[in-house]
Amino acid sequence: AKLLALHGPNLNLLGTREPGIYGATTLAEIEADLVARAEAAGHRLESFQSNAEHALVERVQAARDGTDFILINPAAFTHTSVALRDALAAVAIPFIEIHLSNPHAREPFRHTSYFSDLAVGVVCGFGADSYRYALDAALQRLGAAG
Ligand code: DQA
Repeated sequence: AKLLALHGPNLNLLGTREPGIYGATTLAEIEADLVARAEAAGHRLESFQSNAEHALVERVQAARDGTDFILINPAAFTHTSVALRDALAAVAIPFIEIHLSNPHAREPFRHTSYFSDLAVGVVCGFGADSYRYALDAALQRLGAAG
């Protein structure tokens, strides 16, 4: 199957960005790990990061090319973006919402998500491991390679 990992604003700075909250692992390391694990399970995984809402909306729309599953950390857009939510609803591709931190344990403005009620599930609070757990869940749902 074909998986897409989407990363929202400021996640390009992972590794140096508030390491006490987000850890020391870079986005390149996270992406390489996801690709390796997906391929080992017989699937394909592409990654896309942008700081721009419109670029993320367009990448979600482009996923109508046959993408079977999306892993998304919408980052700050989690709490603001009706447009990105609507894009995911429009393409109707199942997705898991991911966060490195646990937004529920942070500022009140991080407690609401425009994505969680549409998501297959949400993985948050495990640092870079959140991505690995989400991929495991996606692979479980996708079943045998195809
Ligand atoms: C985040 C949590 C968001 O509240 C924040 O805006 C981010 C990262 C996380 O992965 O913990 O940029 O999505």
